[in-house]
Amino acid sequence: MHSRTTRNLAAAAALGLALAGSAGANPVDETLEVTTDDGTITLTTTAPAPDHLKDAFDTIYSGWHYRDTETRNMERDDFDNPGMVFVDIAREKWDAAIGKNGESCAGCHDGPESMAGLRAVTPRVDATTGKLMIMEDYINTCVTERMGLEAWGTTSKDMKNMLALIALQSRGEIVNVAIDGPAAEYWAKGKEIYYTRYGQLEMSCASCHQDNAGNYIRADHLSQGQISGFPVYRLKDAGLVSAQQRFVGCVRDTRAETFKAGSDEFKALELYVASRGNGLAIEGVGVRH
Ligand code: HEC
Ligand code: HEC
Repeated sequence: MHSRTTRNLAAAAALGLALAGSAGANPVDETLEVTTDDGTITLTTTAPAPDHLKDAFDTIYSGWHYRDTETRNMERDDFDNPGMVFVDIAREKWDAAIGKNGESCAGCHDGPESMAGLRAVTPRVDATTGKLMIMEDYINTCVTERMGLEAWGTTSKDMKNMLALIALQSRGEIVNVAIDGPAAEYWAKGKEIYYTRYGQLEMSCASCHQDNAGNYIRADHLSQGQISGFPVYRLKDAGLVSAQQRFVGCVRDTRAETFKAGSDEFKALELYVASRGNGLAIEGVGVRH
């Protein structure tokens, strides 16, 4: 017990983590109203915690509430949101006859609006394949089986751009991923990963995003680690970051080697993390620092 505690304190110190119990800063109490081409839309960025999370939190918050004023403001106007450039690139891709026999996404699906609502219910167990599918799986099924192309890399630019375009079609829709029925076993597996301490520093997702949400780690204000804003434009990377990629980055920060983007483990984790945000709105393309 004693050595375990000492190690965890050392780990926290190594990361510059303000220890639990020290003054945490609250998520800002503001509303996210976004100016779009078609007027304004108010996004639900805070909600009562879903039942399965009631032991941990009363209220859930989008990561938007934990960022600085400048970053928050960038997401308030599509014109200032640097992620929108990638949505435009994906829109061109959507219409382009890139398939082996000239197929295009548009040829089979019409406009991207046909994807409205999908982002809010994925990951999900697909009724046809019976498998847990993240959005990347849906896209790659079409890219390979229906267009005769090589699969797009899970974290490739083409993939992330398309994730942004598809997510935007569900902007404002409330996350409601299924965790019961055929999803239950995947959800349980994702939950187990979320609470497992990996690596040298013996930290789990929960160590930071549950036990220390609101605290600072170096200069970083720790959020609840929600994915309702994903993919996000990350200022630090000057590009889009998908949820799968963010998981890899967070694990790496704890000096652990765990799972790959697109692995069965991280798909299950994405379902579980998404379910912690059941009740929040899809942001389309969030902006983070
Ligand atoms: C050592 C602390 C630490 C651990 C452990 C950690 N993260 Fe993070 N995570 C961060 C920091 C710091 C950020 C950036 C600030 C923020 O949004 O919390 C972040 C951001 C995120 C975000 C982006 C939130 C947003 O709205 O932009 C997600 C999602 C996330 N983490 C998920 C996870 C998952 C899943 C795990 C476990 C595999 C994990 N994190 C483990 C520190 C951690
Ligand atoms: C040859 C026709 C065809 C092409 C080309 C095609 N798709 Fe599909 N796509 C389908 C069919 C059929 C389905 C499964 C049935 C459905 O949901 O419409 C599907 C399903 C999907 C889904 C899941 C939709 C849902 O509601 O479950 C996504 C996302 C998707 N496609 C994206 C794309 C993207 C992105 C492209 C272009 C890169 C593309 N598709 C190209 C035919 C196509």
